[in-house]
Amino acid sequence: MNNIHPEHHRFLNRHDKEVLLEQKGLAIWMCGLSGSGKSTIANASERVLNKQGHFTIILDGDNLRAGLNSNLGFTDEDRLENIRRIAELTKVLVENGVIVFISAITPRGELRDLARGIVGEKNLFEVYVNASYEACEKRDVKGLYAKAARGEIAHFTGKDNSFEPPQNPNLTLHTEKLSIDEAAIELVEAVRERIAR
Ligand code: ADX
Repeated sequence: MNNIHPEHHRFLNRHDKEVLLEQKGLAIWMCGLSGSGKSTIANASERVLNKQGHFTIILDGDNLRAGLNSNLGFTDEDRLENIRRIAELTKVLVENGVIVFISAITPRGELRDLARGIVGEKNLFEVYVNASYEACEKRDVKGLYAKAARGEIAHFTGKDNSFEPPQNPNLTLHTEKLSIDEAAIELVEAVRERIAR
């Protein structure tokens, strides 16, 4: 931090932005296996919230890996850096009153703790998008499970790289049982008080 002088006091503060947006900033951090439904539910929930007048942004792991995180792979070390960057970006947005959906596998407790530490406990709502490896393999929307089964993907989550289910998420959505719309409605209901101004 030598010669770096972060400046905050002259900027409009979070309260000013939240008054403008008529909402409270919140990070809705969605973790779960690839293909579990994170992005799909984030997308459906965002549409519901937008109809209600809320301003939201989706930070999607896949999309960010095409740009901001394009130099990162899937080793433990790279995933840590991936999550650190996403969390720092999330923090900026939440501190400006935005409701942020993060859809990133975030496979280990250590990564979720890192995100929580950066974004702030009170700013983060953890959602476990729960579907079994077998269910995700059956859906295989991106064809990655078939590739992983053929041994064509290194460090594949749930196969050679472990996925630790979160111990105490704010919400678990069982996507083998819920429709997309049902999951979105449940999620929006669960965050209602946290985003209300
Ligand atoms: S995370 O583990 O670092 O949180 P992130 O959500 O950003 O992962 O990226 C996961 C996406 O990258 C998956 O949805 C999938 O499309 C793609 N992907 C490519 N290789 C892998 C891999 N080895 N393991 C998991 N996902 C992979």
